Amino acid sequence: VRWLDAATSRLAAAGVPSPRCDAEELAALALHTRRRDLSLPRFRELADAPDGYEALVDSRAQRVPLQHLTGHAAFRYSSVRVGPGVFIPRPETEVMVGWAVEWLCRAGPAPLVVDLFSGSGVIAVSVAAEVPTAKVHAVEISAEAHGWAQRNVANTSVTLHLGDAATALPELNGKVDLVIANPPYIPLGAHIRDPEVTEYDPALALWSGKDGLDAMRVLEAAAARLLRPSGQVAAEHADSQGQVAPAVFTDAGRWREVVDHTDLADRPRFLTATFAGGHSHSGERL
Ligand SMILES: C[S@@+](CC[C@H](N)C(=O)[O-])C[C@H]1O[C@@H](n2cnc3c(N)ncnc32)[C@H](O)[C@@H]1O
Repeated sequence: VRWLDAATSRLAAAGVPSPRCDAEELAALALHTRRRDLSLPRFRELADAPDGYEALVDSRAQRVPLQHLTGHAAFRYSSVRVGPGVFIPRPETEVMVGWAVEWLCRAGPAPLVVDLFSGSGVIAVSVAAEVPTAKVHAVEISAEAHGWAQRNVANTSVTLHLGDAATALPELNGKVDLVIANPPYIPLGAHIRDPEVTEYDPALALWSGKDGLDAMRVLEAAAARLLRPSGQVAAEHADSQGQVAPAVFTDAGRWREVVDHTDLADRPRFLTATFAGGHSHSGERL
């Protein structure tokens, strides 16, 4: 189809990483159909681009994220609504959620789960959909992101909280089976290449102190506070943090089985650890 080829070339020239895929997604959006249906004769035989298509391609060529144009992001078996003010879920995170779903299926009836740094609520929504017996809480500090999450958890069993991961949900201290998180993890001053990230992902979702591990340290302490003994934590990190992110947990001295895992591209991507439990002499949880 000529207009689709032209849009693909236009997006490629603008540096869009997957130009054909995006050109087709936008065509599906303009035609009110699904991308896979574009191969149907009634779409293949369209001589001209549908109404509104050029404007969508213009926006994408200016590097507005595809998900802001379509209004949603697909993630595992779910989809969440996204737009300005919220981090767009990434496919890298899907592997960690898959690990969590498997762990939860072995964890016994009605496991209690907390998704910290929840953004759009995507991890919580996916876990709740795939493990219907789980009781899932989600915590997000940004009012704007929380607004998106509110829409995404509507009609799900997820309980959403606006607050700081460091202090959230004190009523669940020592009771949680699984803490899962995709915290901010980019070191301050690091160069980010893609304009979709620098211009559209909120700063609060990206930056995490000088070494990129400030939020990981907050997460380590929050998970130790929330988990029951032998509860699990799963935390995503940058592909350059395959040693230093697990070290946050091993160095804290209250975790066993600290293991790092790779994503589908075989890059270091998330850690898991078991809370060893116990109390310090001062009575504070170790
Ligand atoms: C990398 S995004 C991850 C969002 C979502 N979990 C995902 O995977 O798409 C990190 C999120 O943590 C939130 N955040 C940052 N600091 C926080 C804090 N102290 N407590 C709770 N949320 C926080 C940000 O606003 C952002 O929405």
